Amino acid sequence: MVEKREKVYEGKAKVMFATDNPDFLIQHFTDNATAFNGKKKGIIKNKGIINNKITAKIFTLLEENGIPTHFVEVLNDREMLVKKLDIVKVELVIRNYAAGSIARRLGLEAGIEFPFPIVEYFYKSDELDDPMINDWHIKYLNLATPEELKYMVDAALKVNDILKKFFDERNIKLIDFKLEFGRHDGQILLGDEFAPDGSRLWNKPDDYVLDKDRFRKDLGFVEEAYEEVCRRICGE
Ligand code: ADP
Ligand code: TMP
Ligand code: ASP
Repeated sequence: MVEKREKVYEGKAKVMFATDNPDFLIQHFTDNATAFNGKKKGIIKNKGIINNKITAKIFTLLEENGIPTHFVEVLNDREMLVKKLDIVKVELVIRNYAAGSIARRLGLEAGIEFPFPIVEYFYKSDELDDPMINDWHIKYLNLATPEELKYMVDAALKVNDILKKFFDERNIKLIDFKLEFGRHDGQILLGDEFAPDGSRLWNKPDDYVLDKDRFRKDLGFVEEAYEEVCRRICGE
C-alpha cells in the first residue's frame, strides 16, 4: 500500500500526486475537458472514471503484449498508481485514417485510409501550442536521443498493431491516437493515458464518432460516446 502525498502537477485533465515512495505517482483522472490547447473548456461528466478504466484496460493489454508501461494498479474509481517518469517532451501521433490536423494540413478527405500507419511528432509545449516537429528539431532541442526516438517509434507502431486489432474486434475503427513516453530507471516506458481524449475512435460501419471530437466540434452525446467505448472494452 502506498500513501498519497502532495499534489505535484495539475494538468488540463489529470492531477498527479506524490506518494511515500519516490518511484511512484498517483494519476488522478478528472472530468475536465479542454480542446485546442485549453482554448475551449468544459466538463464531461464521469469522464475521469471512464478514462481511468479504459487506460487500465489498454495498458494491461499492452503489457501482456510486451510493451512496458508506467501502469502499476488501479487504486479507486479515478486513480491509478504509476511509475514516476521523466516525460519525453515529444508526443507521438499514429494515424491509420485521415482526420483532424493531417486532413487540414495535407488537404485530405477525412476518413480515407492510409496504406500504412503515418507517424508524426509534436513538441509537448502548451506555450507554443504543441507544434509539429521532425527528427532534426528533436535532435536540436535535445528532447530525445536518436536511440530513444527509434525505440518510441517502434513501440508506438507495435501499440498500433495491437490496438487496431483489439478495437476492430469490438467494432471500432482506430483512426489515430497520441502517445507519451518517459524515462524510468534507465528504461523508456509508455506513460500518460490511452482514452477517447487522445484518440479518434469511430463506430463501424457508420463512422459515428466515439471520442473527444464530439466535445471539440459540439456534436452532442459526449458522455454517451465515452460510456459506449467503455461498455465495449472495459468489462472483460
Ligand atoms: P497536460 O499536462 O497536457 O495538461 P494532463 O492533464 O493529462 O495533461 O496531465 C498529466 C500530466 O502528467 C501530463 O503532462 C503528462 O505528460 C504527465 N505524466 C503522465 N504520466 C506520468 C508519469 N508516469 N510520471 C510523470 N508525469 C506523467
Ligand atoms: P490532431 O489531428 O489534432 O493532430 O490529433 C491527432 C490525435 O492526437 C487525436 O487523436 C488527438 C490527439 N491529440 C492529443 O491527444 N493532444 C494534442 O495536443 C493533440 C494535438 C492531439
Ligand atoms: N489535448 C489538447 C487540449 O486539451 C488538444 C485537444 O485535445 O484538442 O486542448
